[in-house]
Amino acid sequence: MARTIAVSGTASGIGAALAALLRDQGDTVIGIDLRDADVCADLGGPEGRSRAVAEVLDRAGGTLDGVVACAGVSDFTPLPVKVNYFGVVALLDGLRPALARAQAPRAAVVGSIAGTHPVDDAIVRACLDGDEPAALLAAERVVEAGAGNQTYSSSKSAVAQWLRRVCTTPEWAGAGIPLNAIAPGVVRTAMTEPLFADADMLKIMNEAVPMPLHGYADANVIAEALRWLISPANTHMTGQVIYVDGGAEASLRDPSVF
Ligand code: NAI
Repeated sequence: MARTIAVSGTASGIGAALAALLRDQGDTVIGIDLRDADVCADLGGPEGRSRAVAEVLDRAGGTLDGVVACAGVSDFTPLPVKVNYFGVVALLDGLRPALARAQAPRAAVVGSIAGTHPVDDAIVRACLDGDEPAALLAAERVVEAGAGNQTYSSSKSAVAQWLRRVCTTPEWAGAGIPLNAIAPGVVRTAMTEPLFADADMLKIMNEAVPMPLHGYADANVIAEALRWLISPANTHMTGQVIYVDGGAEASLRDPSVF
């Protein structure tokens, strides 16, 4: 049965690959992005987030079968906190009532292996408290201290923790909505292009994200995993962060963590 799925980040990379897969199987995709999308909005700020939610609801007629929050940035600035955490949470919270009206609603987030890397506790705490000004202040401090990469890892850790906290509540599990994340390793998209062009960065990335199984992934690999997560077949999996990462997470973390 054809379904209506809202996907953010459809102008590029993983979001574009997922939108193509879903459209190929007959679903209606409502793409959200800064540009080249059905709904053009900046998920980095409150105005764009509210407009994105309103326009998606309008296009969907008030009922959505799936939402995938894929849009993200990896800059060494406070921006990842705005887009990857507060943008994701606002989109999912805003569209949740429309999901609750569907027969087999599903939601997913694109996290990252970076969520397992060192994070800044103040950023993560402020995110989970829903305090965006405090999270941005903490992120500015981290950038000034020369650890700008931690704004990204912190945003991804926080969003994974957020979904594990809310997935079992009446609003999500109680409304029959599974909520999970796919956490990729290194995927060849516009986001990672500059890293591949810089030998020093590539060396750092290979050490931070070892991928013994098949190496770097194509966007389609992540899109296929997302497709299953948001399919009606996923009736019982919720609150999971699934590493589709060529073995990076299993290489990096102790085997007792699972
Ligand atoms: P990409 O750069 O190809 O696509 C990201 C999309 O998000 C772009 O179309 C961009 O315009 C959109 N976007 C960025 N900021 C936005 C904003 N403020 N409002 C609306 N849309 C915005 O990157 P890619 O690789 O497809 O990334 C997708 C997701 O996958 C991101 O959340 C990223 O953090 C995550 N990821 C990517 C990895 C990789 O190696 N490429 C690894 C792990 C996670």
